[in-house]
Formats: sequence, C-alpha cells, structure tokens
Amino acid sequence: MTEQATKTDVGVSQVKCIGCGRTALPDRFRCETCRDLLEIIYPGWEPQGPYGLNAASLKKLWRDRKSSLEPADQSGVWRFREVLPEIAEDKIITIREGNTPLYELPHCAKSAGIKYLYAKHQGMNPTGSFKDTGMTTAASFARAAGYKWVACASTGNTSASMAAYAARGGLRSLVLIPDGKISWGKLSQSLDYGAITVQLKTDFDGCVRVLNEVVERMPVYLLNSVNPYRVEGQKTVAFELLEQRGWEAPDHIIAPGGNLANSSAVGKALREMKQLGFISRVPKVSVIQAEGANPLVRSVRENGGEKLIAVHAETMATAIRIGNPASWKKALRVIRETGGEVEQVSEVEIALAKAEIGAEGVGCEPASAVTLAGLKKLVKQGFVKPNETVVLVLTGHTLKDADFTLKFHRGDLFEGTPHKAESNTLKPLQRSPLVLEPRVDAVIELLQSAE
Ligand code: F0G
Repeated sequence: MTEQATKTDVGVSQVKCIGCGRTALPDRFRCETCRDLLEIIYPGWEPQGPYGLNAASLKKLWRDRKSSLEPADQSGVWRFREVLPEIAEDKIITIREGNTPLYELPHCAKSAGIKYLYAKHQGMNPTGSFKDTGMTTAASFARAAGYKWVACASTGNTSASMAAYAARGGLRSLVLIPDGKISWGKLSQSLDYGAITVQLKTDFDGCVRVLNEVVERMPVYLLNSVNPYRVEGQKTVAFELLEQRGWEAPDHIIAPGGNLANSSAVGKALREMKQLGFISRVPKVSVIQAEGANPLVRSVRENGGEKLIAVHAETMATAIRIGNPASWKKALRVIRETGGEVEQVSEVEIALAKAEIGAEGVGCEPASAVTLAGLKKLVKQGFVKPNETVVLVLTGHTLKDADFTLKFHRGDLFEGTPHKAESNTLKPLQRSPLVLEPRVDAVIELLQSAE
C-alpha cells in the first residue's frame, strides 16, 4: 500500500465546497481552504437538462431501461445515470442495487392517525440496507480513479455494503467498527465479503477520528458518507420513489438521522427534480433521531442550528448511535429548504414502532423504525395532517438486527435498563416462541385457542 493516491479527471461533474463554493479535486472529501464538506454539482444541466434531455424524455428512458438486460440498466441506481456523475460503464460495480419496493402500511397509518402511509424499503437492497445505493457510485469511482484500497468507519451497514462492493470490484477493504456496539449480523457480512475488519475499542465517532488520519497518510479511498459520490447514488431513492408514485410528490418524507447523509441525499434529489421539472412541489423532509443520539435535535432547539452540539451517543438502534454527525449542515439545509422538522423518539417508542412495522409483514431494523415513531409525534403536534400522504424511508432489513427482535418478543429487551417500567406497554405486541410436546392435539388446541 505504498503507492501514491491517484488524482484523476474521471468525473465530468464538478465537486464544490458547500461552504465557500470553491471547486475541489474529484477525490477529496473536504474543502482544502475552509474544511467544509463537498458536494457534486452539474453546471452542464442548464438550460435543456442532462445531455439535452428534458424531464419527459428522461422519464421514458428510465422506464424503458427496466426491460434491458444490461447490468447498469438493471441497477436501480445506474438506471438514473443521467443525473449521476459520469463513470465509464466498464468501471461500474453493481450488485443490482436500488429497485426497492414502496409498500402501503395501513395498520401503521391507523396507529399514527393518518390515512395514507407508505414505506420506501431500502432494506430490500442487496446487502440489506440503503447504503448500497451510494456505495455503487462511490466504489465505482474508487475503481475508476485507480485506488486499490477502500475504507470506512461504520455502525455496521456501511461496512457490510462497502465490503461487498469492494469484493465485487476487485478492491481491498478496511473496516473500522466500534467494538461490541454493532449487530453481529452486520459484522458477519463484512467478514463474509472479505474485508479486513477491525473492532476499535471506541464508539463510531472515535472510529471516524482514527480513519480520517489513516486516509491522510495512506493511499486509501474513504467510503464514509462524507464522500460526495455516496450522496449521489443515495439520491436515486427519491427519483425511484417519485417514479413509483407516477411523479406525484407525497406531502412528507421522513428519514432516520445518524451521520445525516441520507436525508441530505433525499433533499438534494428533490431540489434537482424541481430544477429539472420532474415535480412542481417539493415534499417536506423531516429527520428523526433517537433521544440518546440527538445532536441535530439539540442543535436546532438550543442554538437554532447555528453550530453542532456533539453528544455522547447511546441507543439500542445501534445504526444511528452517532454523536457527531458529519453531514449535519447538509441535512439542516434540506430540512429548512423543504419546511421539514427534526424530532427525537425514545427507546420504547422505537421498539413499539419497529414491532408495528414488523406486524405489517414488512419489518425493518430499529434505526429505520424511528421514522414511524417520529411520525406519530409529528401528527400529534399537528405538523402532519391526517389527510396528508407520508413516505417513511426504511433504511435497513429486519434481519440486520435479529437479536433486538428476539429480545423484544421474549420481553427482555429492556431488562436492567431505566425503561423497564415503561416497556410494559409493549406487551400486547410481544409474541414469545411457544414450546410444546410433539403432539397433534397440543398444536390443534393451540390453534383453537388462538381463533
Ligand atoms: N438507518 C440505518 C439502518 C443506518 O445504518 C444508518 C447509518 C442510518 C439510518 C442513518 O443514516 O447516517 O445517512 O443519517 N449507518 C451508518 C453506517 C452510519 O455506518 O452504517 P445517515
């Protein structure tokens, strides 16, 4: 790993600082002048649209690609490549990400007190989380730029995804994760896909600090969500969602907030769709955090979002156990631009919402369930009206954290925690596995009593 990082002119789009607006080299993550984050912009879209294509032509092109046999067309990310940074087709690493379902959630809607509730289930991606949509773009860029090594710090999903894309693309990968604080399912994925996996004796924020130094000193390409190419791929969730709704915007989109890149990506997509004439009205984007990992909520409430209040994060929704989110400025811009809200939810509220989403036959991991828990609060506050249409972004598959689900149903999730008394409200949703003698009568009796 001694050769120098390659700077290339692979990208034709521009990388710009969100703070001072200076352009940056394509393989950078922060502005060399003001250290703010970077984003990818598309000056070439004006005035006719990407490649001279208007919204109507793009909609048709993207729909037609669904019946193509080409790998890039079968990807739910690269299908939208006209609104992504240009990467040579032979460098694209795809595991057929995206193309995720939009489900109606009638029972959760009722529980929240609204009529029209949908889930855009990003947990139905190849490695089981939304990370795949951004990983395909950023890992492909790494390959096109000539990197041999990629690395990330992660609460588990980014590492699973990065390890898979690196393996598919012939890259080596290094994962830094907080020791003992990620689900074993996610850890096992990273091992299975062949990453060098290191459990650091710190939290996610500590892993980020260490990795930032490592990538400064070694020719390793950083695949954390500060990587602007990640955000571009993650944008496609909103394009696909709008396509699935016949290009009719919902009133609200609600996303969980961790490092705050996903909500930034959704907002960037909506901004671009408005600019390109795909939609005339932009949905309100709201971000929900866990009470124990609420830096954005605190910053907005305590200083109007002027500066980030970093916190020591603690939540059972380990995917969003993040106290010092890198993309907070981008997310805040989206919330402000679209007129969304920030809200926080308790551990018991998360567990309840997760069980309700599971009981719809859909399921998700705990971090995704904050969206439903947050929606309930936003309805109570009158911010979401009963007849408005809401889409929750479910970010991870229910199997990502089977331990949480098993403990919930066995009734010991909150054992030994301060939430034990409050968690009694969860009993009606708990379904502990039953043990019976192997007798037909016993099973029939059980069935009859369940009628
Ligand atoms: N939901 C899930 C399932 C996640 O894994 C994450 C982030 C988020 C929500 C929050 O998204 O960071 O863009 O605000 N997981 C990262 C990881 C940090 O390392 O897997 P965000």
